[in-house]
Amino acid sequence: MKLIGSKFIYKDKSLKQKVSGITFENPVGLAAGFDYNANLTQALSYLNFGFQSVGTITYIPYEGNPPPRLGRLPKSRSLMVNKGFKNLGTDFISKKLKNLEFKIPIGISIGLTNSNENKTLDQAIKDIVAAFKIFENSGVKNSYYELNISCPNLINNSISFYKSANLKQLLQLIKRLKLKKSVFIKMPIEKSNAQVISICNVLINSKFIKGVIIGNLQKDRKHPSLVKSEVKKFKVGYFSGKACEERSNELIKLVYKKYKSKLIIIGCGGVFSGADAYKKIKLGATLIQLITGMIFQGPQLIAQINLELIDLLKKDGFENIKEAVGGDVSA
Ligand SMILES: Cc1cc2nc3c(=O)[nH]c(=O)nc-3n(C[C@H](O)[C@H](O)[C@H](O)COP(=O)(O)O)c2cc1C
Repeated sequence: MKLIGSKFIYKDKSLKQKVSGITFENPVGLAAGFDYNANLTQALSYLNFGFQSVGTITYIPYEGNPPPRLGRLPKSRSLMVNKGFKNLGTDFISKKLKNLEFKIPIGISIGLTNSNENKTLDQAIKDIVAAFKIFENSGVKNSYYELNISCPNLINNSISFYKSANLKQLLQLIKRLKLKKSVFIKMPIEKSNAQVISICNVLINSKFIKGVIIGNLQKDRKHPSLVKSEVKKFKVGYFSGKACEERSNELIKLVYKKYKSKLIIIGCGGVFSGADAYKKIKLGATLIQLITGMIFQGPQLIAQINLELIDLLKKDGFENIKEAVGGDVSA
């Protein structure tokens, strides 16, 4: 606990990077889904987080899916998640953040309003673009955006941005907003390699998406890392933590190998230690995010991961984390 708020970790030069014009004092971020309504933006730097995602936030507020919305699977080191973007909406949250200064980079995660009102592709695109517009014009000093196209818990799953034509149309309209801040895409992990590559090709062709967050929750209830008796307790929802780790790592490697510096990768899924984080970095992630590790291990985990990373970098003879990115991926 002594390490919480320690200047030593927060300022260590081996962990500091400039990514897409943003300075990150360390690579460990809080993933979307923990601070839906922006209650923690003034607190998280004291836990040694290097950055934070707020949201996912939607244009229209949503009270959340019918309960249960959250459950613990301790043996599986996983959480059941069925929130469906429970949040107070872009208007309220942007006003709340407007006059605040942030000690660490803040990303705003934006997704499609969870409602049956968005029946057509055009309506869905308008909804997402409206949310971006509100934030961009709000004066909030966030450093970047996340566009979440991969939430598995939405009421209307018939509109998919995994289809190239739909994603292309959405990105064209977001591009017209001439956003001043970088946009990263929150990716699914349940898609095939070919589908992930086809999504990434659309991102590259859009010429403004800076990177991908790999990735979102595990949809496969039969995933071998999930203990069957724990899964049985929940009729709904999808799974975080260790159930995400393997596929997240495979896709980080796949995307890094194919696109190298053309797409910045934020690795997310099942990080419970410095070694887990370092594995993602060596497979191509420049930054990492987590939630579930912190829920099970406690808030001191963030300091621990940073300390472990400093050691692991030193052991491998690296002066800065940038030198380690993709080190385990052959050309
Ligand atoms: C309680 C909870 C809520 C989540 N809500 C969101 C969300 O709103 N938007 C999003 O992009 N990801 C959401 N996620 C997914 C996480 O951001 C992350 O991708 C996933 O949990 C894997 O990381 P972890 O194993 O470190 O938890 C949520 C995860 C959890 C545990």
